[in-house]
Amino acid sequence: MTAMREKMLRMSKTAAALLACAFIAACVLPGGEAQSADAKKPVAAPAPVPVVAAVQVAQAPVVKPASPADQYAAEPVPLTPVQCGQCHTSIFRFLKQDGGKHKFDCQDCHQEFHSYNPTKGNWAALMPKCASCHTLPHGPKQTECLSCHANPHTPLKVVMTEKLASGCADCHSSPAAQLKQYPSKHSIQPCSACHTSHGLIPSCANCHQPHYKEQAMTTCTTCHPVHQPLQIAFKGNVDLKTCSGCHDKVYGSWSKSPSKHGKVSCVTCHTKHGMIPNCADCHGRPHSEALLEKFKNCLTCHLDPHDPPVKKK
Ligand code: HEC
Ligand code: HEC
Ligand code: HEC
Ligand code: HEC
Ligand code: HEC
Ligand code: HEC
Ligand code: HEC
Ligand code: HEC
Ligand code: HEC
Ligand code: HEC
Ligand code: HEC
Ligand code: HEC
Repeated sequence: MTAMREKMLRMSKTAAALLACAFIAACVLPGGEAQSADAKKPVAAPAPVPVVAAVQVAQAPVVKPASPADQYAAEPVPLTPVQCGQCHTSIFRFLKQDGGKHKFDCQDCHQEFHSYNPTKGNWAALMPKCASCHTLPHGPKQTECLSCHANPHTPLKVVMTEKLASGCADCHSSPAAQLKQYPSKHSIQPCSACHTSHGLIPSCANCHQPHYKEQAMTTCTTCHPVHQPLQIAFKGNVDLKTCSGCHDKVYGSWSKSPSKHGKVSCVTCHTKHGMIPNCADCHGRPHSEALLEKFKNCLTCHLDPHDPPVKKK
């Protein structure tokens, strides 16, 4: 077994290094008195020897093992994840980087290990079972946990497989329902056209131009709920320059108007896109009944709601 061979190799190298250290310590420490357990190894070298010579001595096979009393003083304790990770380096990395809430002791999951035998075909029986700790968090339909959580050592790294892509609506009913109830060109896109990996939120900029050049892409969803993009709602502090992208002329006259309407927001009057307000909603009947009887349309005199003529001061 390569892993075992590697370990043996590592052990013999370690021994050599320790011995070399012992020699160097013996050379450097006054009186050559050994302090550490390693330095007690019975390799007593004569007074100052060149380092090269020490290495040569250390490699000689005359070395006796350390005292058994020291080696067996402690009781064995279960291997820690770091110790398992000395051999299982990639699994240790997975857990370290993306282990999430699975970053606990290997042996909490692997109660039995190192007993796989191909002739017995006992691999599946040996491997930990999700069900020993979890119920069915996504309901009774999703039972094949590993088909999505392919690597239990990186539990939240769910790969965008066909199986996942066809199951979005099972777990996220509300986006799916919105796309269906309010047909738009987003409704004919597969979820994964936008969410190219699980949990990723795409930028509108991947597929669209803004309404005007400097418009920030973070503004888009204030008007367009992405799963029902034509249900445009004006909420909060609306970025009015957006309107200029399509209603350039109106925006131009409104923004330059000296009248008080120039201070009224487009969406205070047009509360919904395309809606036309009545003057009376805000002004009631501001002139005599006789005048208003005669001129039914306020704009006969006030001309343009975006820039009504006002007295020059
Ligand atoms: C949350 C439970 C859990 C923890 C914690 C866990 N494992 Fe696993 N491990 C599993 C499961 C489940 C499998 C089987 C995966 C499969 O069948 O594809 C597995 C498979 C393995 C395998 C064999 C498959 C392979 O990828 O080589 C090794 C080796 C292994 N784990 C080592 C470790 C080590 C080492 C640690 C700690 C550093 C650890 N595991 C921590 C659940 C866990
Ligand atoms: C000295 C090196 C070494 C250490 C330490 C080590 N393993 Fe392994 N492990 C191996 C080798 C070699 C294999 C077999 C080849 C392979 O699958 O990589 C193996 C296989 C496995 C397997 C899959 C096959 C089976 O029989 O279970 C699991 C699970 C596993 N180890 C878990 C662990 C856990 C958990 C720890 C720590 C408690 C650990 N190992 C510590 C070397 C080691
Ligand atoms: C030894 C018990 C144990 C086993 C076996 C186990 N888990 Fe977990 N798992 C946990 C615990 C504990 C948590 C954390 C739960 C919490 O805090 O809500 C967790 C969390 C998770 C999470 C969320 C991780 C996160 O960071 O939020 C996923 C996904 C998960 N487990 C999937 C699995 C899958 C799939 C399997 C089988 C391959 C499995 N687990 C096996 C104990 C286990
Ligand atoms: C169709 C794919 C799929 C299957 C099958 C599946 N999961 Fe998940 N699971 C996911 C996705 C996707 C997430 C969300 C991951 C994230 O937060 O990024 C998730 C999250 C989780 C979480 C985190 C808790 C939470 O609700 O946020 C746990 C625990 C979990 N799964 C356990 C399991 C277990 C146990 C099974 C098997 C009974 C299982 N999953 C089967 C796709 C799946
Ligand atoms: C098995 C259940 C499951 C499946 C299938 C699933 N998801 Fe999820 N998804 C989750 C869970 C659990 C979370 C994390 C908890 C949450 O935010 O709802 C999540 C999170 C998300 C998020 C991040 C939410 C946020 O607020 O940041 C997006 C986006 C997402 N999923 C999209 C998808 C898409 C698209 C698909 C299909 C390709 C899909 N999911 C398939 C369970 C699932
Ligand atoms: C045209 C691109 C696009 C399509 C198609 C799309 N999404 Fe989204 N989705 C987004 C964007 C962008 C956001 C972030 C919205 C926000 O920040 O207000 C999002 C947010 C989400 C979220 C997290 C917030 C929430 O509303 O719960 C989930 C879950 C989600 N999408 C699932 C899906 C599913 C499931 C489908 C398919 C049925 C789907 N999406 C189709 C672009 C899309
Ligand atoms: C993955 C690409 C993609 C992303 C990301 C995306 N869209 Fe779209 N969107 C489309 C496509 C394709 C169309 C149809 C375009 C066409 O026919 O010209 C569309 C159309 C639209 C429409 C018009 C809908 C209709 O039915 O006429 C609006 C509004 C829209 N997108 C807004 C947004 C907003 C806001 C975002 C970000 C929150 C966004 N989109 C993100 C691909 C995308
Ligand atoms: C102030 C509200 C508002 C904001 C913010 C906004 N939009 Fe729009 N958007 C609209 C209106 C209104 C329409 C016209 C709808 C119609 O034709 O009925 C529209 C139409 C669209 C369309 C349809 C195609 C077209 O150009 O006619 C797309 C695509 C679109 N917007 C993308 C975006 C993107 C991307 C952003 C962010 C940069 C964004 N919108 C920000 C209000 C807004
Ligand atoms: C993407 C282009 C686009 C944007 C951005 C846009 N609109 Fe429109 N708007 C349209 C289209 C297209 C129509 C329908 C034109 C028609 O029927 O003559 C329309 C119609 C209107 C109408 C009704 C016109 C009528 O004659 O009945 C009003 C009012 C209006 N928009 C106000 C706004 C306001 C306010 C904004 C900014 C918050 C805005 N629009 C942003 C494209 C846009
Ligand atoms: C959403 C409410 C609203 C609507 C609808 C509305 N206005 Fe106004 N209007 C205002 C406000 C607010 C003022 C400023 C009042 C003030 O400061 O005294 C104003 C002021 C005016 C003025 C005085 C302008 C000035 O600068 O002195 C005229 C004239 C006027 N409106 C005419 C109209 C006409 C005509 C209509 C219909 C075409 C109309 N308004 C629709 C809110 C509205
Ligand atoms: C004080 C209320 C008010 C404000 C503020 C206002 N509008 Fe209007 N708007 C109206 C009224 C009333 C009409 C209907 C005019 C008519 O009947 O001829 C109208 C008509 C329109 C029309 C369709 C007719 C045309 O002239 O093209 C568009 C587009 C429009 N407004 C866009 C805007 C935009 C964009 C803004 C902000 C830049 C804005 N409006 C600000 C009240 C207002
Ligand atoms: C026959 C022409 C005429 C008609 C029709 C007319 N107005 Fe006026 N309106 C005027 C004149 C003239 C003024 C005074 C202008 C000034 O002082 O600058 C005025 C002033 C106003 C003012 C400002 C009052 C103030 O105190 O500053 C408002 C608001 C107003 N009109 C709203 C309306 C509304 C709403 C209608 C339709 C219901 C309407 N007007 C119809 C001619 C008209």
